[in-house]
Amino acid sequence: MNSLVKKIEELKKRRKAVILAHNYQRGEIQDIADFIGDSLGLSQQAAKTRAEVIVFCGVHFMAETAAILCPDKTVLMPDVHAGCPMANMITAEALRKKKEELPHSTVVCYVNTTAAVKAESDICCTSSNAQNVVSSIPKEEEIIFVPDKSLGHYVSSKIGRKMHLWPGYCPTHHRILAQDIEKRKEEWPRAKVVVHPECTPDVIALADHVASTTGIARYARESEALEIIVGTENGIIHRLQKESPGKTFIPATPQALCPNMKKNTLEKVLWCLEDMETEITVPKDISEKARLAIDRMMELSEPKTALKV
Ligand code: 13P
Ligand code: SF4
Repeated sequence: MNSLVKKIEELKKRRKAVILAHNYQRGEIQDIADFIGDSLGLSQQAAKTRAEVIVFCGVHFMAETAAILCPDKTVLMPDVHAGCPMANMITAEALRKKKEELPHSTVVCYVNTTAAVKAESDICCTSSNAQNVVSSIPKEEEIIFVPDKSLGHYVSSKIGRKMHLWPGYCPTHHRILAQDIEKRKEEWPRAKVVVHPECTPDVIALADHVASTTGIARYARESEALEIIVGTENGIIHRLQKESPGKTFIPATPQALCPNMKKNTLEKVLWCLEDMETEITVPKDISEKARLAIDRMMELSEPKTALKV
């Protein structure tokens, strides 16, 4: 064990901390995490942990969600500047305006939103439960789906339900082009294609399977294919390769990197445990309203834990 990892382990015990890492984190962070998972799995893990401190290795909206679910715990981010550009494509004020234009609509917010936007929403969703969440809304109700137009379009076409889509998108997933998938398929003719629903519709149309990041990991383990083209942020390949060493995982493009997910480093994890910074808190009035939207989602989600490492 290298000395940095040893120090993190020691301090983690002393602080009674748990380290949660998203599937896109750097390999060395995934390797020291107690749990790795997708947005839903990590939220569920945060909600049930007995630890006193949660070190959230992901982006800001994820740590905020953990802080909302665990108001009595200390939620720390190793780098508080790790934001999600898609989450910043909508503000609470802009959403309030949209709700005035469409006053009888139900607002579904993707978890990739700020707490303030969640507080203005009726129900939250993640990439792994978005279809269930939207299907739970009575047919006669209009839906405003924010902020990811790609996930919204995917869900809408899967279940045949029209929605008012906010024009947000993930800059990382939109770097994956249909031509990239076609090129990789030419190079690896036996390979299956798995992509995240944040990809554009033309990329999704070329996929054999569409899933959240943990869904992608499950598909990679369970598929009989020995070669798999992966259309999501490339950090996930570390986990896929570890879980299925005999298979070949081919990134759709080397461009699919989320700079924010890569801001966390082992050094920053250590410093955050040493200094107990930066703590993520959400004002009580916003937190309570946002929690209603998250709890409604949790009630509709199968119990599923993030992977224990
Ligand atoms: P998952 O919930 O599928 O892990 O997605 C989170 C995310 O930010 C994808 O870009
Ligand atoms: Fe946000 Fe996209 Fe990065 Fe996920 S991959 S955190 S949606 S910018």
